[in-house]
Amino acid sequence: MDYSRKISERLWNLSDKGELESRREETFIDDIIQKNHIERELLDHLDGVETVFDGGAGCGRFSILLAKQGCRVTHFDISQTMIEKAKELAEKAGVLNKITFVKGALEDLSGFEDRSFDLVISFDAPISYTYPNQERVIGELVRICRKRIMVSVSSRLGYLPYLANPIQKNQFILDENCGDPFVTWCVENKENAVKTFRFEKDAAGKLWKDGLMGGDAEIAEYENGGVPWCITYTFLPDELENILKSFGVKNIALAGPGAYARTIPWELLVKMMKDQNQRSDFLDFCYRYDSNPFVCGMGKDNLFARGEL
Ligand SMILES: C[S@@+](CC[C@H](N)C(=O)[O-])C[C@H]1O[C@@H](n2cnc3c(N)ncnc32)[C@H](O)[C@@H]1O
Repeated sequence: MDYSRKISERLWNLSDKGELESRREETFIDDIIQKNHIERELLDHLDGVETVFDGGAGCGRFSILLAKQGCRVTHFDISQTMIEKAKELAEKAGVLNKITFVKGALEDLSGFEDRSFDLVISFDAPISYTYPNQERVIGELVRICRKRIMVSVSSRLGYLPYLANPIQKNQFILDENCGDPFVTWCVENKENAVKTFRFEKDAAGKLWKDGLMGGDAEIAEYENGGVPWCITYTFLPDELENILKSFGVKNIALAGPGAYARTIPWELLVKMMKDQNQRSDFLDFCYRYDSNPFVCGMGKDNLFARGEL
């Protein structure tokens, strides 16, 4: 049974998902940094790019940006809820006619011909939600790509610290009183999370070894009608690089958006982000630091890769 796909489909079709995803950068600093990093990568690498495939494009953070740059974009996603939100935002941005919306799963890209798109992108982990097909999915994304590919997947080295720090997300809250339900939950749950915390060496060892977050418990929850988080495959940097190379991708650059920021205490992060001048200097520097291949595994959640065909 194809549980990853079914679980993803149920989760991402929840009625409030599109709205919540479209507001992420208003609430969390790590999301601002990650989006900023990817936007810079995209805008710096558009030479010769007219057509784009965005796999797992969500509410259109990047498909709309690229359509605004004049690209013709295929916005592909498993969730009709996300597609509807993306259509609404594309219309507001005046680029609805530049985007083709397609509902589908990354596990089946057979409807697209080889080398159909100049640029293929898939950001913020859709590939990681296709376990156990993640490697084949990367191969398919490369197959339909003519010139350049950029992806971000869940990072194993980036996720392992969560197992020793259940309050990690609190470090990145921009405004504790913003009223966002997840922010409120992080704030209210903090004390209890610390009190009940225990380091589970076996759980860390398991993630280190097999890269998998989720499995039997999520499948059981799904079968009982629940909506678990996606079964997530996390990649190591050399693993992602080698998979891309094995499909013929060259000049691969890896990055770890959030690597610099995760070393900085909450009070100082908020101070920098709330001062417009410091914010822009800080984001510039994050991009520079996080692009260094020696820190790429330690991005916040995501491991980024760019390569050429
Ligand atoms: C965290 S969101 C990222 C959205 C977008 N790429 C971005 O960075 O804003 C993950 C997206 O992947 C989509 N997704 C998850 N599993 C998928 C699959 N197997 N095939 C296609 N899309 C999928 C979800 O519906 C969701 O829109």
